[in-house]
Amino acid sequence: MYQKPPRWRSPSATTGPLQCAMSSLLITCRAGFESECAQELTEYFAARDQAGFARLRADSGYLVFAAADDSELALPAADTLIFPRQVLPIAEHFTALDPKDRISPLLDWLQRHINRLHDVWVEAPDSPEGEALNAFCRSFESALVARLKRDRWLAETASTRLQLFFPIGTEAFLCLVDRRQATPHRQGILRLRFPSAAPSRSTLKLEEGLLVLLTDKEREAWLQPGMSAVDIGAAPGGWTFQLVQRSLRVSAVDNGPMAANLLDSGLVTHYREDGFRFVPKKALDWLVCDMVEQPIRVAKLVASWLNDGRCKRALFNLKLPMKKRWQETQLCLDIMRKQTGRELDLRAKQLYHDREEITVYAGPASG
Ligand SMILES: C[S@@+](CC[C@H](N)C(=O)[O-])C[C@H]1O[C@@H](n2cnc3c(N)ncnc32)[C@H](O)[C@@H]1O
Repeated sequence: MYQKPPRWRSPSATTGPLQCAMSSLLITCRAGFESECAQELTEYFAARDQAGFARLRADSGYLVFAAADDSELALPAADTLIFPRQVLPIAEHFTALDPKDRISPLLDWLQRHINRLHDVWVEAPDSPEGEALNAFCRSFESALVARLKRDRWLAETASTRLQLFFPIGTEAFLCLVDRRQATPHRQGILRLRFPSAAPSRSTLKLEEGLLVLLTDKEREAWLQPGMSAVDIGAAPGGWTFQLVQRSLRVSAVDNGPMAANLLDSGLVTHYREDGFRFVPKKALDWLVCDMVEQPIRVAKLVASWLNDGRCKRALFNLKLPMKKRWQETQLCLDIMRKQTGRELDLRAKQLYHDREEITVYAGPASG
């Protein structure tokens, strides 16, 4: 387990923005994807001439990434990375907390380093082990917040969020983040309610993809009623449901049956055809694709649609059941870039509702 104390620079103004440069970062992710995060961060920092190394335990749902030479690692923006859910600068690491009094050492530390906080989140990894700690995290957070309120530590005007991360009950990473730049979602997870009229849970993948990969303005401009889309590998229709909800006209391509309520909407035409051979009668605004297929085949298919102008934008899933998932991801994104032969706006993320897969948006670089 990681032990090296990180270098901590006290923020210049306790109510002002934090200097988020640390020599160690805590990364949270889907359990099982720790090594993909490690590879991604290693390449991210190598591209910025910084060497680093990761400490991880498989299936734990988190890892620590440290600079090789104790230099400061500038915090990457969460939306520039595919596999990490949160990237948090580690200010302190407590390794042997007394279960009878975990609060005192944390308060001591805060007293020495900072005197105003906006809020406090206490979290555990998103893993089976972490789930067992969720009830503890909630009650510890309530107790800590009550104590901080009593001592007037919390201020609406402060921008710093204290994030305490407990991998086990006696160990905590203390992270201080600027809440204006950090994820608004606890554990970096956007939880969505399953719409009862949707025919499959997959619907949440497209809903989350549209919310995470596009901005509010982009959704408004690019998903207008009356626009057209093809959904390749559409059955039973969870993704089509999302498009119909937004009043788009959908060509649903799949040999399998589509849900009756979608066909009754008058917005869906079902084509029982091979998604690799389907050709639309005219150019469409969107292609979405959730086919269970080799990711390289899907990447090439989407690139060819964008290239030929058969669609303007695409949002699709790349399934990653193989061992070398980071390499496969890079290969697919490179194929997209090369095959389209023009600058492409590519955004990729492993979403909360993605399992062994990632979701990618591709569109023209000019917007
Ligand atoms: C994961 S399911 C899609 C679920 C769908 N997105 C939803 O939300 O309900 C994958 C679908 O891809 C379809 N599929 C696989 N290969 C295909 C192909 N070559 N052409 C068309 N559909 C294909 C399968 O029939 C299956 O219905």
